[in-house]
Amino acid sequence: MVYPGQLHYSQFKAKTLKRPIDEPGRKLRVVCVGAGISGLTTIVRFNEHLGKDVDIQVYEKNEDVGGVWLENRYPGVACDIPAPCFAFLFEDNPNWSSYYAGGKEINQYIKRVATKYRLQKYVKFQHWVEQAQWDETRGTWKLNVHDRTTDTHIQDEADILILAWGMLNNWVFPNVPGLHSFRGEYMHTAAYDENFDPAGKTVALVGGGSTGVQVLPHMQKAARKVHHYMRSQNWIAPVGFGANELEARGALSEGNFSYPETERQKWFHDPESYHHYRRQIEDGIMAYMAESGLTYGSEEQMMMEKNFRGHMIKMLETKPQVLKTLLPDFPPGCRRLVPGPGYLEAVVQDNVEWIPEQIERVTEEGILTVDGKEHKCDAIVWATGFVCRFDVIGRDGITWNQVMDPEPESYLGSFVDKMPNCFLYFGPNCAPGAGNAYLCAETECELMISCVKKMLREKIKSICVKSERVKQYTAHVDEYLKKTIFGQPCRSWFKRGNPTGRNIAYYPGNSLNLMFAQRNPRWEDFEYTYLDELEGNPMCWLANGYTVADYDGSSRTMYLDPVNIDYPPVPESEPEQNHSLTNGHKVDKVAAIGMFQTPS
Ligand SMILES: Cc1cc2nc3c(=O)[nH]c(=O)nc-3n(C[C@H](O)[C@H](O)[C@H](O)COP(=O)(O)OP(=O)(O)OC[C@H]3O[C@@H](n4cnc5c(N)ncnc54)[C@H](O)[C@@H]3O)c2cc1C
Ligand SMILES: NC(=O)c1ccc[n+]([C@@H]2O[C@H](COP(=O)([O-])OP(=O)(O)OC[C@H]3O[C@@H](n4cnc5c(N)ncnc54)[C@H](OP(=O)(O)O)[C@@H]3O)[C@@H](O)[C@H]2O)c1
Repeated sequence: MVYPGQLHYSQFKAKTLKRPIDEPGRKLRVVCVGAGISGLTTIVRFNEHLGKDVDIQVYEKNEDVGGVWLENRYPGVACDIPAPCFAFLFEDNPNWSSYYAGGKEINQYIKRVATKYRLQKYVKFQHWVEQAQWDETRGTWKLNVHDRTTDTHIQDEADILILAWGMLNNWVFPNVPGLHSFRGEYMHTAAYDENFDPAGKTVALVGGGSTGVQVLPHMQKAARKVHHYMRSQNWIAPVGFGANELEARGALSEGNFSYPETERQKWFHDPESYHHYRRQIEDGIMAYMAESGLTYGSEEQMMMEKNFRGHMIKMLETKPQVLKTLLPDFPPGCRRLVPGPGYLEAVVQDNVEWIPEQIERVTEEGILTVDGKEHKCDAIVWATGFVCRFDVIGRDGITWNQVMDPEPESYLGSFVDKMPNCFLYFGPNCAPGAGNAYLCAETECELMISCVKKMLREKIKSICVKSERVKQYTAHVDEYLKKTIFGQPCRSWFKRGNPTGRNIAYYPGNSLNLMFAQRNPRWEDFEYTYLDELEGNPMCWLANGYTVADYDGSSRTMYLDPVNIDYPPVPESEPEQNHSLTNGHKVDKVAAIGMFQTPS
């Protein structure tokens, strides 16, 4: 029977490829931009899971690996989640000197891992990717790279473009009139001059986000006077993430503690016990991201707000004018929660002047605020955050900026509209409320690998998220976040400075939810083009009808390797029936398993 309009197979071409189904017939060139933790994760995992099928080239604008942790050298730079959880999943570090480790130590750790796994050989340092343009016909990205070692420009071509360029990497000075007319020293925290000596000087510190909060306690002690410009509200948490451990060690008031040498030695010699310790700490962070903690108005969240409010009121007793402008009217967490050991203590010191007014312009001698006052100073430290990016031109000539206007959008934080064969780390709405950045990078990478495997397997030329799906993801995120602390009105880079704007940073759920979503790709959310050799018939991916094992002498019965057999559980049975039949023989269950499996 034929229904009206039914197709006939003879309408389609069907070319039989000459190679086996599992022989990709090509090696994909993967170019990754950035050698921070995301770029390094890419090298490790792509090599491990894609091996000879890919050829990886990483371009890194800096002279070394580390990204954020190499660049940010301002006084006080440290991680804000416990160091045991701030590590690659495959490389515990029993040697952290303190609970919240400093930036330099984090960078040393990253470098050690890179050296151990010999990752540097995949990286061209001091190579700045300046442009990437999609070529639809070839199904590749054309790249323009500035080699700063020779001051020359090179071209490259990639089947896959991975943007591990960091969501908080590109720093710029804020757009403040006269900024460069200042006669004294001035610097951004992400390019901090470590030779700068604040002793005896009046230093302006602009900004009180996560960075400014870390800088102030150090600057207050070192400088003669600090002008602290903080124009918006911010919750300063009495304790950071993972506070239970601080409490257990009697270090709540210090907000950090050092690990005794004996403990580090013990862990060094007994990695399992350290791993157990890490899990216990990380479990506490995961527990913070339970529904009750993130839902706006929940009992737990109200309690947290009450505690934070009490803490700030108490700490700022002597400077009520600071409390007036700093105490938020939004819930904790809406802006990045800032655990600021020593920040409020520093704010109330006599040598710190709190300046909440907007900056009108910078003069040759200081900063003029909108109330008409000029605050003279010797140096200015701009702790004013980061912006985005280089030129990426995707499908149909659509640029990155066009896609990201009026607001950055993505799909699961990893895929961007009109950007085929392009994977992104830490893109818009990828970040769970708190947790381990390494875990995010790891699972994002897992999803990328799944995509590349699919491309190789099914002879896909391009994979690109459907435009509609990006919008649907964004709609879901927006609706979801409204119910959480992250969707409430507050001024933050998460909302691009607009208190009532859409939150562009957070993921609609916690880390475990994100991991589940990334491990289960919805292939129907993507559109594909296929290699020309399939001549328009994707079913020709079945190739010559055989597999590599039919040719290369490897086992044709690998499906009988115990590791490949999915042994079903044998139901508990009555004592007299406690036997099962295998190949017609009566075999004891334990013995049967023992035949194939080595004891653990
Ligand atoms: C000061 C600071 C402190 C932080 N603290 C924490 C914390 O405590 N906990 C936490 O979870 N997160 C923290 N973060 C977030 C941090 O961004 C992540 O933890 C993580 O380090 C990001 O790693 P990444 O590899 O994705 O990006 P990055 O570390 O930013 O690395 C990106 C790399 O790409 C390179 N690159 C960028 N553009 C180009 C280009 N055009 N050409 C060539 N190379 C390029 C850069 O040089 C850089 O090396 C912090 C961020 C900052 C800025
Ligand atoms: N260890 C850590 O955890 C750590 C440390 C540092 C950074 N980080 C990460 O990096 C992110 C960025 O932190 P950040 O502190 O560098 O940047 P940020 O959170 O964007 O804070 C920038 C600060 O500068 C102020 N500012 C910007 N432009 C200004 C101007 N023209 N005049 C006056 N003030 C101005 C901002 O005020 P408004 O808010 O009013 O705009 C804000 O107070 C954080 O959210 C966090 O994810 C983490």
